[in-house]
Amino acid sequence: MRILLTGGAGFIGSHTAVALANAGFEPVLFDNFSNADPDVIGPICELAKQSVPLCHGDIRDAKTVENVLRTYECEAVIHFAGLKAVGESVAKPLDYYDNNVNGTISLLEGMKAAGVKTLIFSSSSTVYGDPDQLPLTEASPLKPATNPYGRTKMMVEEILSDVTKSDDAFCAVCLRYFNPIGAHPSGLIGENPNGIPNNLLPYVARVASGQLASLKVFGNDYPTPDGTGVRDYIHVVDLAEGHVKALQWALGKTGWTAVNLGCGRGYSVLEVIRAFEKASGRAVPFTFAPRRDGDIAENYADATLAKTLFGWEAQLGIDEMCRDAWHFECQRQKD
Ligand code: NAD
Ligand code: UFG
Repeated sequence: MRILLTGGAGFIGSHTAVALANAGFEPVLFDNFSNADPDVIGPICELAKQSVPLCHGDIRDAKTVENVLRTYECEAVIHFAGLKAVGESVAKPLDYYDNNVNGTISLLEGMKAAGVKTLIFSSSSTVYGDPDQLPLTEASPLKPATNPYGRTKMMVEEILSDVTKSDDAFCAVCLRYFNPIGAHPSGLIGENPNGIPNNLLPYVARVASGQLASLKVFGNDYPTPDGTGVRDYIHVVDLAEGHVKALQWALGKTGWTAVNLGCGRGYSVLEVIRAFEKASGRAVPFTFAPRRDGDIAENYADATLAKTLFGWEAQLGIDEMCRDAWHFECQRQKD
């Protein structure tokens, strides 16, 4: 069964392509390469042990989406494509609404024209905002986002809900990711942001490897055990497996569902630094800096629903996440 992965050449899409292939699906990748390198297809095919088509196209072009869906006779779409940098979304809101919201609308038009009615969407725990209570379940209140990126995730969730109400054969699953990190254990694929990384793990990896001098820990006065921010980090390989299980569940179902994908436990920034130092055998020098605008103190998932519905649960812990992120960083430097 062929499955279209929009944004399939990106960080989470590439790992999901491998997981889908290993589960017997045939992934078809669709990407405009705004944040990916077409050469990633080599390692993806190697890990998938099959030839994986990679189509160059933009989700904002409904006709191209329709043609690709028809050509490959895809039966479902996993929708990763979009822009994801919180700070950039404040500076360039129209780019974010255009790519993430308009892009999803034209993707849905292309799907409608091709008669494809199953969609798995990359949502985010950002829809919960600053939580009143932890852990976060899917019934926890959604909060107005503090930035355009977060608003696009909320809007797309609502659009998908409306689409399922208008078409009772449509199935939309919104997967609310917590903090995906790590890399494939082979070291062949991983996260390789351009420029100075915004997110904690890629930054820590570059400090450990000596490319950046020191990490700034944003805030040590949060109401958390050590004062630094706490997040539910999830290994990207577990996350990829979550998509396979979500897809297997969704095929043949209808309606709108939102499901958390997290490990169900939080780690502070200092705990992540210690785990990375242990995994890499390198020091990660850091200094405390003021809180970053828009950051929350703490979030972590209740991931029970994913287990109940999909039979999925994260298998890998923070040590494996740091080990694989470090391995990928070392491989990246060799290339
Ligand atoms: P990524 O940037 O590595 O992957 C996104 C891919 O989409 C890239 O390959 C990019 O080239 C492609 N793309 C962007 N706009 C496109 C367009 N208009 N048409 C076709 N392709 C386009 O990001 P990722 O970390 O793999 O994230 C995938 C999805 O998961 C995104 O929607 C992101 O918002 C969401 N998400 C990510 C995180 C995270 O921390 N990584 C957390 C929560 C949600
Ligand atoms: N942090 C630092 N120093 C840094 C970078 C981050 O101390 O240089 C801290 C942050 O303050 C936070 C933690 O590390 O406490 C994690 O920060 P990230 O930037 O790695 O991740 P966020 O939780 O801010 O956000 C990520 C994605 C969002 C997504 C969200 C929930 O960037 O797109 O997870 O899925 F919405």
